[in-house]
Amino acid sequence: MNPLDESTGLPPVRLRDVRGDDAELLRGLNSPAVLGEWDHFDDPGDEMLSGALYNGATKIVELPDGSAIGSVSWIQVPYGPNQRSLAWSIGITVLPVFRGRGLGASAQRRLALELLGRSHANRVQADTDIGNVAEQRSLQLAGFTREGIARGAQWRRGRWHDRVLYSLLRGDVAPDTSRLGGPVTGGPVTG
Ligand SMILES: CC(C)(COP(=O)(O)OP(=O)(O)OC[C@H]1O[C@@H](n2cnc3c(N)ncnc32)[C@H](O)[C@@H]1OP(=O)(O)O)[C@@H](O)C(=O)NCCC(=O)NCCS
Repeated sequence: MNPLDESTGLPPVRLRDVRGDDAELLRGLNSPAVLGEWDHFDDPGDEMLSGALYNGATKIVELPDGSAIGSVSWIQVPYGPNQRSLAWSIGITVLPVFRGRGLGASAQRRLALELLGRSHANRVQADTDIGNVAEQRSLQLAGFTREGIARGAQWRRGRWHDRVLYSLLRGDVAPDTSRLGGPVTGGPVTG
C-alpha cells in the first residue's frame, strides 16, 4: 500500500501501464466527442507536444474488476533551475458512461499519491479550463486546493483560454513527510 494513502471515501480504482491491446480504448479516449469542449485541440499533429519530452507518461484507469474507464497522464514542470523544484502536472479523461461517480477524483488522487510516493517532488498540480466545472469539482473531491487563475495560458481552437490551477502538496496528504530529504531529483517515475 502506498505509504501516503489514506481513506477518502472515494471509489476504488487502479492505475496500470498501457498495453498493446489498449489502442482502440486510447483512440476512443482521444476522440473529440470524449475529450469534449474543454480538452479537445485542433492543432496540426506536428505542433502537438509529446509528454515524453517532459518525463511524462500515461496510465489506464480501471475498476477493481479490470474494466477500463479512462486514462491519466503526467509531465514534469520546473519551478526553478534546480531539480528539487520539479513538480508533476497531471491530466485525465474518463469515458462518459463512467462520469459523475467520483472515479475521476479517485484516479487523480491515486495518481498524485503514486507520483509523490515514487519521487521527492513536493507538488502535484492540475490546471483546467475555467469553464470545466466537472474537472474543478473532481479535483476538489480529490483533495486538491484551488490556487488561482493563469490568465490566457492555453491556446485552444483559435483563441487563448484562462486556466484554473489546483495543487496537492506532499504535506497535504502526509504532513510528517513534507520535508523529506534524500535525492534531489523529482523523477523519473516508472510503472
Ligand atoms: C473532467 C472529468 C475527468 C471528470 O470525471 P468524473 O469521473 O466525472 O469526475 P468526478 O465524478 O470525480 O467529479 C465530477 C463532479 O463534477 C460534477 N459535475 C459534472 N458535470 C458538471 C457540470 N456540468 N456542472 C457542475 N458540476 C458537474 C459531478 O456531479 C461531480 O461532482 P459531485 O460528485 O459533487 O456530484 C470528465 O468529465 C472528463 O473526462 N471530461 C473530459 C476530459 C476533460 O475535461 N478532462 C480534464 C481536462 S483538464
